Amino acid sequence: MRRAIVALLVAAAVGSLAWAQVSITVAAGNVGQELALTKAAAQRYMDSHPGVTVNVLDTPDFVQDRLGVYLQVFEAKSSDVDVFQIDVIWPGDLAEHFIDLNQYVPKDVVDQHFPAIVKNNTVDGKLIGLPWFTDAGLLYYRTDLLQKYGFSGPPTTWDELQSMAKTIQDGERAAGNPDFWGFVWQGNAYEGLTCDALEWIKSSNGGTIISPDKVITINNQNAIDAVDRAAGWVGTISPPGVTSFGEEDARNMWQAGNAAFMRNWPYAYSLGNATDSAIQGKFDVSPLPAGPGGQPAATLGGWQLAVSKYSKHPDVAADVAMFLASPAEQKIRAIQGSFNPTVMSLYKDPQVLEAAPFFGSLYDVFINAVARPSTATAPNYNEVSTAFFNAVHDVLTGKENATDAMALLELDLQDITGFATGQP
Ligand code: GLC
Repeated sequence: MRRAIVALLVAAAVGSLAWAQVSITVAAGNVGQELALTKAAAQRYMDSHPGVTVNVLDTPDFVQDRLGVYLQVFEAKSSDVDVFQIDVIWPGDLAEHFIDLNQYVPKDVVDQHFPAIVKNNTVDGKLIGLPWFTDAGLLYYRTDLLQKYGFSGPPTTWDELQSMAKTIQDGERAAGNPDFWGFVWQGNAYEGLTCDALEWIKSSNGGTIISPDKVITINNQNAIDAVDRAAGWVGTISPPGVTSFGEEDARNMWQAGNAAFMRNWPYAYSLGNATDSAIQGKFDVSPLPAGPGGQPAATLGGWQLAVSKYSKHPDVAADVAMFLASPAEQKIRAIQGSFNPTVMSLYKDPQVLEAAPFFGSLYDVFINAVARPSTATAPNYNEVSTAFFNAVHDVLTGKENATDAMALLELDLQDITGFATGQP
């Protein structure tokens, strides 16, 4: 009898526990170490919050594919996902699906982050996303090969990159590596190409596709020349397959030791220096090269944590987001995954700087990174970017010449945005 009562009491306790348990699902990225790091962070949250289960959902690598998944969840007004990892280009396009985090996140916590990112994430006064990590395009280069071929430092112009890449490629192939290429980057028809092409164009005084004051500037000679120059790399210093490369394709070739240069985001740094990497200790990073008369340009990337307005537990979801984006968690991601913090003070943290010295030496690159025209074109940025990367991709694959492609793109962008055209 007593045993039965105890069993009943235990069952009741377990039952009420199960009832009290809140489940939060975080839709997260899986590029490089992202997913593993997010899962580890979710576990730390659960360890200190036994009443909450945090599930981490893996989403597609390519930005437009991930957006497609998110849009389906929003379309269904589904509460299945509570926290979304959102791209720096999305606050304007997706604002209507998220809560205002200002309700839950104290101002002094918001103020720990770079003000420019907070501003980017603020739509009509609402804080749509809590900054999680920031990104900027970098040039990765092989220090050992530069030395071997007598180069004193990384290239500062695209022309220099082209000739250095060719010299090293010819030399390495002659030395017995037929798989070696000069330069790998992101050439697939997706958001990554928008980022790379913006860098070629902006660093050649060709503007930013659409200016912050809403003028379509893409149809100019400097932009045309920049895209033509990149088309010339395909099949010469870059593999023909580069026109289907995303970040991870470039990184895999680079990390196997089969490329002299790579354009990529900071996350590739810690993976390149891991013990299982063929290039551990044999590379460094620098600002990207510039075009004739131009200055280097790095596209601003990065990801935020947003809470769905369809969530059943927005308060707990906001707490999870705040935990994941906290200084302590950003520090772990910075050290283990070379993900750039958005918390300013971490750029002075000795342990962070030891793990990723370029956070200090290339600080200006991160601070001056060039934004894509997402604020000016919201809520149509994704359409604008899709028109842009398709036009550039057509030039890279030889379907169209750059002069015609940029002229047609200008017309498309007028249709999408209704903005005027002009020069950068
Ligand atoms: C990185 C950037 C993101 C960008 C994407 C393109 O994830 O952080 O902003 O849109 O790359 O592939």
